[in-house]
Amino acid sequence: MLRFLTAGSVDDGKSTLIGRLLYESGGVHQDQLDSIRKASARTGSTMDLSLVTDGLKAEREQAITIDVAYRYFSTKKRKFIIADVPGHEQYTRNMVTGASTADAVVLLVEARKGILEQTRRHAYIAWLLGIRRMVIAINKMDLVGFNEAVFRELTEQFRAASRFMHNVVTYFLPVSALTGDNVAQHSDKMSWYAGPSLLELLETLPLEEDRNLHDFRFAVQYVVRPNQDFRGYAGQVASGIIRPGDPVVALPSGNTTRIQEILLHTRSLDQAFPPQSVVLTLTDEIDLARGDMLVAPEQPPAVTSRLLAEVVWMSHASLRVNVPYLIKHGTQTLCCSVLSILHRTEVGTLEKTGCDKLCLNEIGLVEIQTHKQLFVDSYAANRATGRFILIDPENNETVGAGMISAPSSLPQLELHANTGAALPPNLLRQNQRGLTVWLTGLSGAGKTTICNALYTELLARGFRVEVLDGDVIRKLFCSDLGFSKLDRDENIRRIGLVAELLTRNGAVVLVSAISPYRAAREEVRSRIGDFIEVYVNTPLEICEQRDPKGLYRKARRGEIAGFTGIDDPYEAPLAPDVECHTDRESLRGCTGKIMAAVLAFFAATAPRNALHQRRAMD
Ligand code: ADX
Repeated sequence: MLRFLTAGSVDDGKSTLIGRLLYESGGVHQDQLDSIRKASARTGSTMDLSLVTDGLKAEREQAITIDVAYRYFSTKKRKFIIADVPGHEQYTRNMVTGASTADAVVLLVEARKGILEQTRRHAYIAWLLGIRRMVIAINKMDLVGFNEAVFRELTEQFRAASRFMHNVVTYFLPVSALTGDNVAQHSDKMSWYAGPSLLELLETLPLEEDRNLHDFRFAVQYVVRPNQDFRGYAGQVASGIIRPGDPVVALPSGNTTRIQEILLHTRSLDQAFPPQSVVLTLTDEIDLARGDMLVAPEQPPAVTSRLLAEVVWMSHASLRVNVPYLIKHGTQTLCCSVLSILHRTEVGTLEKTGCDKLCLNEIGLVEIQTHKQLFVDSYAANRATGRFILIDPENNETVGAGMISAPSSLPQLELHANTGAALPPNLLRQNQRGLTVWLTGLSGAGKTTICNALYTELLARGFRVEVLDGDVIRKLFCSDLGFSKLDRDENIRRIGLVAELLTRNGAVVLVSAISPYRAAREEVRSRIGDFIEVYVNTPLEICEQRDPKGLYRKARRGEIAGFTGIDDPYEAPLAPDVECHTDRESLRGCTGKIMAAVLAFFAATAPRNALHQRRAMD
């Protein structure tokens, strides 16, 4: 199977070419042919093959968004998937989508117009995306009298324009999609051309393995723990081949262990390779969480929070430095900012120029700082772990696609013990007022998960954020306390005090603690004032089913006494500011509600300096 992408500017005859390929390989149904004949007759032509792809045009005119249209056809020798990328100004975005799995690109050049900036841009993006086979179809040869000199001239022009693109194999063909010359059949009008027809070429184009089968990379998507005796890690093999017994390193901890078993549903496999999704078990009990990565010990990825990457910008709002974005890399979504734009590549001239922003469809080399470490490879070495997308945190729109050149050699930010890293100071909101967001609910209700998601969302918006998690606090700050009413009240009092101090100093404090007693919560709320109470309301049965730490089971067996929800009360909030039902609402839904409340709070309250001024005047 060959996957290829078609690219060209308006009126280069792309639709006709695709139509003809489908037609000549028998990929167009009879009824469709009949209606095309009828429609063509109306305009006076015999058979307008561009109409084969016209269904899509109609949809496009109705503004139904089609990013990439995939078409299938086959000959005796091969199956084909064409990624046909529509759109003019959003072409870059579409091309990045369509090209990510393509083996080759067919670039259409109109014989009379020659190599345009658009042609160079498409060739360059295809090259950035790792496509190394480019078929340059010089179309509409019938309109230049099938003249060899025109063909030679354009071939030379393209060669000159693509000189710097290393390792590219180019194929040049003179064709006429309209008359069919050199599309499927050889042309009898261009005896000077001895090469294959387009279809013959596509049938014989060598396929390259674009998957990396050497360097094992497996990001943990879920921890599978149906009971105390089983712990597996679900995820997708991004690259490399893995077998039971193979040594692996867990990142970021650096612990080494071996693969015990590879499971696909209930089957045990001898090996797994990309892009299989499997569950792995390990020979040692090491603690792995979502987002951690298992890798081959010999060829580990770079562990870094600074990257150099070629970014293709796809949004009307231009890329700017020191503005928060979200970066999605594999299973991880983190916040990041662009520290600097090293240069922009002018695709017309291939010159590299300095700039302070990237506009729609522009391409530049940028340096990115992420708020936590990522495990990355260069795109050249590993397509799966070498690419990312950038997302605008305000509207969740994908605004850029990136190909990692290398981890940046500049010094990295220091990491915090628990919660990742602080944002660079220049990204933080100035004069931010503080706020405590207090998540209460049963053990296993989902408080920590929601907190982690909120943390990223808030950081991405430039807030100073701190997390106070019940489990962590109990280990580091309240290890002298148990779970009697007195001890729980003391636990909440201490958490409340720290939250109060941080809030007073302009942080958004995310607290997740069962905090089962209403009176204790009310006390904290009235002390802090700037306070949002979130009730993570998950039915006890669900929490018990989840039982992430196996504590409910122990409580039921009587091994733990006074467990909240079992034999110790949980007093639900009477009027929480936000209520989340994690049993029927998505994580996104829950964080969305809380974010809305947080943003409403800041919209309704004055920034800190104004407040201070007011106090001073009082
Ligand atoms: S709180 O009641 O004082 O607010 P907190 O949220 O700090 O509790 O800590 C609760 C965590 O301690 C639970 O997530 C659970 O892991 C653990 N734990 C141990 N024993 C108990 C218990 N008897 N009741 C509730 N949680 C317990």
